[in-house]
Amino acid sequence: MMPETALPAIRARLWRTTAFRLAVAGALVSSVGAGIVFIIIYLSTVGTMSRTLDREIAAEVAEIIDPGTHPNSAAVLSATREQLEDAVRGTFAALIGPSGQIIATNFANPPRAVGWGWYSAPSQGKPFAPGITVIRGLGIKLSDGGVLFIGESATALVRLKTRMTIAFAISFAILLALGLGAGVSLGRGAVRRIGRINASLGRIMAGDFTRRLPHAAGDHEIDTLAASVNVMLARTQALMEDVQHIGNEIAHDLRSPLTRLRAGLELAQEAEDAPRLREAITQAIAQVDEGLELFSALLRLAQIESGTRRAAFTLVDLSSLLRAAAELCEPAADAGGDHFTTAIAPGLTLWGDPLLLTQLFVNLISNALRHTPAGSDIALRAHAAPDRIFITISDNGPGIPATQRREALRRFGRLNEARTGTGVGLGLPIAQAIATLHDGSLTLTDAAPGLRVEIALPHPPRTQARQPHG
Ligand SMILES: Nc1ncnc2c1ncn2[C@@H]1O[C@H](COP(=O)(O)OP(=O)(O)OP(=O)(O)O)[C@@H](O)[C@H]1O
Ligand SMILES: [Mg+2]
Repeated sequence: MMPETALPAIRARLWRTTAFRLAVAGALVSSVGAGIVFIIIYLSTVGTMSRTLDREIAAEVAEIIDPGTHPNSAAVLSATREQLEDAVRGTFAALIGPSGQIIATNFANPPRAVGWGWYSAPSQGKPFAPGITVIRGLGIKLSDGGVLFIGESATALVRLKTRMTIAFAISFAILLALGLGAGVSLGRGAVRRIGRINASLGRIMAGDFTRRLPHAAGDHEIDTLAASVNVMLARTQALMEDVQHIGNEIAHDLRSPLTRLRAGLELAQEAEDAPRLREAITQAIAQVDEGLELFSALLRLAQIESGTRRAAFTLVDLSSLLRAAAELCEPAADAGGDHFTTAIAPGLTLWGDPLLLTQLFVNLISNALRHTPAGSDIALRAHAAPDRIFITISDNGPGIPATQRREALRRFGRLNEARTGTGVGLGLPIAQAIATLHDGSLTLTDAAPGLRVEIALPHPPRTQARQPHG
């Protein structure tokens, strides 16, 4: 199966971008809002005006025909004539006889229809009256088959309707165009940015791990994301370098014991008597142990870093634990003619793993013994400050120059292999991992002359048990 390393080809289509979709959705929502506003305005102007018009027409009809009666054409003729005489501009009336003949009217082509209606002047014909092209009117059937028509000019109303509809159509179009325009420009920007980021990712996947994603300073979500990815890339790069470094170091460190093992086994092959053979086997076992020790130290470090040991934390009597660690190292100090002194405040307690804490201090004291000339002064001090517990291990040996401290804390970081001989270079990383596991810190500083290792550890939480374990 092909490994999935290929970058999905980015066909970033403009209309698929979030920026574009958001802008268009915004434009649509504002258009719907504009539509609702239009309907409300329309109903409250045009609607009210046409209702008023209808009421006026009904009132004029009532002046000619008494409500509830059904007169014939002859009966309404005189009232219609009066109405026509009083008619103001824009008011129309017509009386149509039973056979369709016009009996009385004040305008051309009066409609013969019955009921409410809107009537427009024929497009090529002349208007109902100068300037009046639309009439709202009511036709009433008379008892002899004639029709009484009363109408009012609706030209202004229709003009208002048209203007409002056009205004709305224009604003709707502008809103949509603005939304689309904003979407296109924002979407294009997003497509460009993603394209650049994708190009960088392609380079990184092709093996250029030093490359980072382009991003501008600011709070734009793509920029923040790119910045986070860059932090992740830097971390990954560092881890990869570490792994590479560790791999090289393991190979390097196993080579010497394996070479010696091989030489020893060759000798054993030629050994003529049993004591020589046994001697060769003993040496071979020692070489294998050296290699095994390297692996168990690496595994221990991995276990400490995984944090699983936290489950076994108890309240530790740190003062006793430090004294015991010092006692453990005293024979070695005596053998090297070193002056090892301790100043441990009583009653220090700590929430942690006693075995790991012992290993932490033994590693540091052993370093002070091993990496200093015979007869050096080595001191272990511990005291409690209000916020933390401080433990320092200092010596007056060669120390570690500030520029090499980082290297000393790296796995397999040995600074002076030729002089110091055997160590694998895991003592300090393990010590630092143990301090970190306990929410503490380990720092290398200058004891001028010599090295001072400072460990700061938190006080135990108040809620924990009072009974410490040593
Ligand atoms: N007290 C010290 N004075 C001077 N150099 C030191 C001191 N402690 C550590 N170093 C330097 O830092 C390096 C790393 O120390 P670290 O304890 O990690 O490894 P190591 O002592 O070489 O091997 P080991 O894994 O057996 O402890 C040492 O090789 C040594 O060069
Ligand atoms: Mg060491």
